[in-house]
Amino acid sequence: MTRAIFRAVPPIRFTIRFPNAATRVWIARGALASLGRETRRVTGATRVVLVTDTHVGPLYAARARRALRHAGIETDLVTVPAGERSKSIERLAGLWRRFDDAGLSRAVAVVALGGGVVGDLAGFAAATWLRGVPWIGVPTSLLAMVDSAVGGKTGIDLPSGKNLVGAFHQPSLVIVDPALLATLPARHRRAGLAEVVKMGFACDAPLFRVCERHAAALAVGNPAALATAITRALRVKTRIVSRDERDRGERTALNFGHTVGHAYETARGYRGVLHGEAVAVGMCVAARLSVRVAGLDPAALRRLERLLASLGLPRRLTGVRAIALERAMRHDKKRDARATRWVLTPRMGHASVPQPITTRLVRATLLDVGARI
Ligand SMILES: NC(=O)c1ccc[n+]([C@@H]2O[C@H](COP(=O)([O-])OP(=O)(O)OC[C@H]3O[C@@H](n4cnc5c(N)ncnc54)[C@H](O)[C@@H]3O)[C@@H](O)[C@H]2O)c1
Ligand SMILES: [Zn+2]
Repeated sequence: MTRAIFRAVPPIRFTIRFPNAATRVWIARGALASLGRETRRVTGATRVVLVTDTHVGPLYAARARRALRHAGIETDLVTVPAGERSKSIERLAGLWRRFDDAGLSRAVAVVALGGGVVGDLAGFAAATWLRGVPWIGVPTSLLAMVDSAVGGKTGIDLPSGKNLVGAFHQPSLVIVDPALLATLPARHRRAGLAEVVKMGFACDAPLFRVCERHAAALAVGNPAALATAITRALRVKTRIVSRDERDRGERTALNFGHTVGHAYETARGYRGVLHGEAVAVGMCVAARLSVRVAGLDPAALRRLERLLASLGLPRRLTGVRAIALERAMRHDKKRDARATRWVLTPRMGHASVPQPITTRLVRATLLDVGARI
């Protein structure tokens, strides 16, 4: 491990500016302890609803509440079951009811303490309550730290498709405390790394090379390697979302691997395969298609597959039929004509604008990567 590569480790503070909003980001080991002070400073709230899940709550909710109390902020705690299935209409309605019971007014903020599931759910509840109250992200999973906590996409799933109901609602503040990763199960750490690889392969070749160089350290959860991955990935994500908040141009590159990834999650009923794992396989499909129709060098596809393998991520679909994936992708398309246009990578780090691909070629590629007939 070279020392130079770990120069950019926290603490780091910056602001992401959008046309009608701004997100303050604070990255530091131990940053959770300043949640109260930062919340007060940025939102002025004296009361928050703290949303967490059944895994994260017992580990960190008491520390979060203590930090808030020290800044004179009262907390109502809401805990949802851990896992993707909590991004549901029922859980959303449950949050609204709790907001109502707590008399949650415009002066109050929502704090999402957890992974991408809690962030997407609580962020959407905040977006819709009283037509929008401020929210604060305290990402606790690697995936949430590198990707979902910034950019303001919030929402829930329906049984027929991922993220079908949602809103853009920028968090006012995001507090990234890499020390919280010490308790994250290895499988979830690997799933988070898939989104870092995605950002590298689709948007930033130097980030991909950092992942390659430090794959072994990242795979075992070396804290310095993870801190580097977090800061570099956040820099890439910040650059992209601040130029294209609403996903109309450049930001679509971040959907690389997600056409099949989302279909895979849906076809598996949001069970047994994690979002990051689905994205890993989805990237293998998208990269193969990129070789076939966009002129990607096959050597780049091999590098992608090798990196995913060394990070312990899947490269093949399992337990799913091609027809089920195609159905899920078609269903998405009815809602959003862009959904089955594919983000391809003619060159590593340079994703193209989404384009349509023939169903025959897609079918052949799905079968190549393990889908059943
Ligand atoms: N909004 C966006 O821009 C965006 C981007 C990427 C992904 N997502 C969404 O994010 C979700 C996936 O996020 P995720 O992978 O964080 O899933 P998750 O929220 O389910 O977290 C993964 C698991 O790790 C546990 N956990 C989290 N932090 C922990 C910690 N510090 N210690 C111990 N356990 C911990 C959680 O309880 C859960 O069991 C998906 O729904 C995906 O669609 C959203
Ligand atoms: Zn994703």
